Amino acid sequence: MNILGIETSCDETAAAVVADGSRVLSSVVATQVAVHHHYGGVVPELASRQHIEAIVPVVSEALERAGLRPDGLDAVAATQGPGLVGALLVGFSFAKAYAFARSLPCVGVNHLNGHINSVFLTAGAPAFPFVALLASGGHTAIYYVESHTRMKPMGQTRDDAAGEAFDKVAKMLGLGYPGGRVISELARRGNPAAIVFPRAYLDKSGFDFSFSGLKTAVMRHIQTHAETLAQDMPDIAAAFQEAVVEVLSFKLLSAARHSDCTRLALVGGVAANRRLREKVSGMAAENNLTLHLPPVEYCGDNAAMVAAAGYHEFTAGRRAALDADVYSRTGI
Ligand code: KG4
Ligand code: ZN
Repeated sequence: MNILGIETSCDETAAAVVADGSRVLSSVVATQVAVHHHYGGVVPELASRQHIEAIVPVVSEALERAGLRPDGLDAVAATQGPGLVGALLVGFSFAKAYAFARSLPCVGVNHLNGHINSVFLTAGAPAFPFVALLASGGHTAIYYVESHTRMKPMGQTRDDAAGEAFDKVAKMLGLGYPGGRVISELARRGNPAAIVFPRAYLDKSGFDFSFSGLKTAVMRHIQTHAETLAQDMPDIAAAFQEAVVEVLSFKLLSAARHSDCTRLALVGGVAANRRLREKVSGMAAENNLTLHLPPVEYCGDNAAMVAAAGYHEFTAGRRAALDADVYSRTGI
């Protein structure tokens, strides 16, 4: 069964065709980074306009790369929320109209559910249940995943998301937006032990996160070491990254122990972070746990994960009515 997935929740216009919820026939992502970079973050109104311009060519390219014509599709799935309302409206309205015009069923997908389903886009998919850490620019949370469509939140960030912390620190260091990848590249040349930034474990037995204190500590360090900033940048990046990675991996491992679950997954844009992948892989191996990681190309926002999640929404019998609306916020 071929599903056309569409994702426009933030600053990527993406379309993909996925067969049977796991075999990616094509995945196209048009990023708007060049447009927002100038402003140091995503400007919602500009994001919507960019989606409007990109949606038709991106969908056409996804079909072309999949070697399909629209009549080779069985359903359309699009991100319904959470995200920027104006941005979501472009992709979700397009999906409903595209499906209606071709008498195809249309399903709405929760973006977070999409990220979690990204682990099924590669060989060796996890059996249920498993514990997943979703770390992205908009969300940081741990879920107990019971099925493709059912996941219970175990904990979440009380302030900044992990990716947001990376972005804000990159901005403080004058490295532009988005910052995750730049910080992780810079960190490779730095010493993570050179500076000790705080780790906010909060209640060690709980699974909530907080990254605002860390962000403030980095800012204070930058202000008090202005004269050596240029040479200290790799150490600041490495020490900051280590503080984030330690807390994320500690909480994921504790959540797995607490749930008596031997399968872990790491998803979302921050799951592309090399140091985080390495640390969680090491901890999983030491504790006889199996870690499931999506390929790096499916960590950040993409439409293959939306098509994968959409497939399971579809088989569960859910459909988006023509008057269904998008939503900006939600749990799962
Ligand atoms: O999942 P995603 O593409 O969008 C959201 O749903 O938010 O995640 C984007 C976030 C950004 O904050 C970006 O800085 C971060 O993921 N990110 C990284 C890396 N690559 C992207 N953070 C740390 N290390 C990376 N290599
Ligand atoms: Zn995302």
